[in-house]
Amino acid sequence: MTHPDAGPCRFVVLISGRGSNMQHIVERARLGGWPASFVQIISNEPDAPGLAWAQAQGLPTDVLAHRDFSSREAFDLALADRIDEHAPDYVLLAGFMRILSPAFVQRFRNRLINIHPSLLPAFPGLKTHERALQAGVGWHGCTVHVVTDELDHGPIIAQAAVAVRSDDSVASLRNAVLQAEHELYPLVVQWLANGQVKVNDSAGVTVSSVAQRHLWINR
Ligand code: GRF
Repeated sequence: MTHPDAGPCRFVVLISGRGSNMQHIVERARLGGWPASFVQIISNEPDAPGLAWAQAQGLPTDVLAHRDFSSREAFDLALADRIDEHAPDYVLLAGFMRILSPAFVQRFRNRLINIHPSLLPAFPGLKTHERALQAGVGWHGCTVHVVTDELDHGPIIAQAAVAVRSDDSVASLRNAVLQAEHELYPLVVQWLANGQVKVNDSAGVTVSSVAQRHLWINR
């Protein structure tokens, strides 16, 4: 894996929509002068608003529309080839609304990172905020994790917990968690860029020189 002395860490970012996590990551990296290079932003949706933002920022962008492919496997193979053209150290899923096939996950094993809007292993899948409110949990939040074959599982790198308020609506809770995502994902990308995160099959995830991998967000 790349270390700072080998040049900036290379990231490909995959998006499908708004791309607010991508925006926060890129802006923080620029402000902080991290050894990070965003070598390609790829969207499977041609009209993704995040794509327009990235283009306006002068970032290299690409569209690979899943609708142009006859199967998940064919799309994933083309996507993987496209990603590999940019020789990334890590592939960041940032609101990429596709389930990835085992072959894709295997190809980027231990280099594929995702953010999920819940405190995994609670609430994998969709509609996490609705389900958290229905379950009556006191804490909700988000998780940055390494992607494995099992959807929304895989070794946890960091989590941010958000208190659920008695007057929370789905919208207010979603907004609070999104703000936490905007803190957590850039933090993890900074660790990745600095070579502080090690992922391997036997030891799982280790993060060096980091005081706190679990954030508590007050509201
Ligand atoms: C975020 O809530 C993320 O956790 C989930 O999809 C949403 C994407 O938002 N996977 P954005 O595109 O980054 O604004």
